[in-house]
Amino acid sequence: MERTVQVELGSRSYPIRIGAGLLEDLGAACRTLAPPDAAALLVTDDRVASHWAATARGSLEAAGRRCATVVIPAGEASKCGARLTELYDAALAAGLDRRSFMVALGGGVVGDLTGYAAATYLRGIALVQVPTTLLAMVDSSVGGKTGINLPQGKNLVGAFHQPARVLADLATLATLPDREYRAGLAEVIKYGVIYDADFFARLERDIAALRARDETALLSAVARSCEIKAAVVGQDEREGGLRAILNFGHTLAHAIEQAAGYGTYLHGEAVAIGMHYAARLSCRTRGFPAADAERLAGWLRRVELPLTAKGLSWETVRAAMAVDKKSAARAPRWALADRLGAVAHGCAVLEPLLEEVWHGLDE
Ligand SMILES: NC(=O)c1ccc[n+]([C@@H]2O[C@H](COP(=O)([O-])OP(=O)(O)OC[C@H]3O[C@@H](n4cnc5c(N)ncnc54)[C@H](O)[C@@H]3O)[C@@H](O)[C@H]2O)c1
Ligand SMILES: [Zn+2]
Repeated sequence: MERTVQVELGSRSYPIRIGAGLLEDLGAACRTLAPPDAAALLVTDDRVASHWAATARGSLEAAGRRCATVVIPAGEASKCGARLTELYDAALAAGLDRRSFMVALGGGVVGDLTGYAAATYLRGIALVQVPTTLLAMVDSSVGGKTGINLPQGKNLVGAFHQPARVLADLATLATLPDREYRAGLAEVIKYGVIYDADFFARLERDIAALRARDETALLSAVARSCEIKAAVVGQDEREGGLRAILNFGHTLAHAIEQAAGYGTYLHGEAVAIGMHYAARLSCRTRGFPAADAERLAGWLRRVELPLTAKGLSWETVRAAMAVDKKSAARAPRWALADRLGAVAHGCAVLEPLLEEVWHGLDE
């Protein structure tokens, strides 16, 4: 079983292939990407490497590709200048030229770092994304955003660089820790809320299968999520407008991640809280049905995702929101739902209501 989702961006269009066992196809999939003598750089992290690097490398080499490998330490700290320099050094040492490509085998950390290296090395070479977390499959590997962190904050340096191909091998999810997997599901249900009420209902029906990582349920959920992200990005590649609906739940999520200290909450966990909050705000400001806010909360509970940030004060979270680089001046803007499948962006909300809804969040 395999599905392909095409991202339509004119001359930079590319296919996202989704299915179990695609990693073995990596070499063949890259054959027409570069001439046979052009070398490739495979980048992965030390957790992913132990499970999947040999298959990826073996497939590239079986297709006749000369391939160097860099293994970075797992974790957000690797999205930094030092690791970036390491990739440039490895690329030069392996003789990568303008016709070469880099392969990002891993989660969003590997994807963002490798993507930024590919965007900038020799002013840009081709990139192949091989996402191995659910979050990376449905979010970070699609859309072309790449970047690294600075000591002053997350994602402060970056570039748009669309991949030439995305291969999402569902078999790789078998080794993903449960907490990471469940956090990824938060981003999946987000697509239902922002774009597709039928998809939301399907995710409700499939919840047990999804929790069990059933391949059929996953294939359908990942493919629809990618289609939606691709549709949004296709209409707004550089975040001038529509792309902001992808930030549903994220205004609060980013503030929670920062206020709690990065790593306390996984991104998807903070997004779960942020979506619960945004749904409640939507009920109060846009007539979003309370019953649908409860459906969302119920789904998140069944995935055992958090709905509140215990122990964080409103003052701390609100202060963290003000320094978010995406908020205009100091007033945060919100993506809020009118109904399931229809979200508006750029909404302003009165300060007292923000605080009231925060205090009213329940488990
Ligand atoms: N570019 C974008 O549009 C975009 C969008 C969303 C998030 N991001 C970025 O993505 C990053 C988060 O990505 P993530 O959640 O994938 O985190 P991650 O890359 O840190 O991966 C999470 C953990 O799972 C491990 N792992 C990954 N795949 C595995 C597998 N198949 N088996 C076993 N272990 C595995 C990793 O080693 C890591 O420890 C953040 O840096 C965020 O800023 C980028
Ligand atoms: Zn997110």
